[in-house]
Amino acid sequence: MRIEYLADHLDWAPQIAGLHYAQWRELLPDWSEKEALEELLSHRNRCAIPTSLIATQGSELVGTVSLVVEDHEELLMYSPWLANLYVVPSWRGRGVGTMLVGNILEEARALGISRLYLYTDGGEGFYLRLGWRLLERVRLAGKDAAVLVFDLPADRQVPVDRLQGFGIHHRPEFHYRWRDDPEDDICTG
Ligand SMILES: CC(C)(COP(=O)(O)OP(=O)(O)OC[C@H]1O[C@@H](n2cnc3c(N)ncnc32)[C@H](O)[C@@H]1OP(=O)(O)O)[C@@H](O)C(=O)NCCC(=O)NCCS
Repeated sequence: MRIEYLADHLDWAPQIAGLHYAQWRELLPDWSEKEALEELLSHRNRCAIPTSLIATQGSELVGTVSLVVEDHEELLMYSPWLANLYVVPSWRGRGVGTMLVGNILEEARALGISRLYLYTDGGEGFYLRLGWRLLERVRLAGKDAAVLVFDLPADRQVPVDRLQGFGIHHRPEFHYRWRDDPEDDICTG
């Protein structure tokens, strides 16, 4: 199995948009498959936000996960987010979801992000087992959901010009951090 940046395989984006839309349209009633695709096509970065990883086996798509600045209009008070964790049904229960979460946490750590958020309406138990913790319960589109957090070790504040240089959408109220030791850099881009 390979884990790669969606940025290197944007031809997968239409198929992924269809899967994501089918999975989350009830929770996001104002969202469209077209918007899902546009969002994915904007994930052209490696080592930056927004970005997406895809798991593939041969020519088959197995799963996805993203790192984004904003993930829901009612949850703008938190950032950045793990989003789009999805494993195709026939591959579930084999550790792919766990592996994708681990990989996106490594991406976040490489960016010096100190705290990552996610929201979920059905995967709380999955994430709690992986060390995430409950921040708050929310109602989204009439459904119960939970906001979870994961704290990562981080060292330094990232200079704003560095963020802009790497194409990151900067939200000054959040404290993105950047590891600037190239020897430590796990990003491949
Ligand atoms: C949630 C999801 C990503 C898990 O992917 P996966 O590849 O099956 O996960 P793993 O194989 O790494 O881990 C599976 C373990 O998590 C458990 N698990 C899976 N979904 C769970 C859930 N919703 N709640 C609690 N535990 C869950 C499984 O029972 C399994 O436990 P086991 O190891 O004791 O058998 C996958 O089911 C999926 O894509 N679901 C639809 C989209 C979704 O819900 N995304 C995340 C929430 S927004």
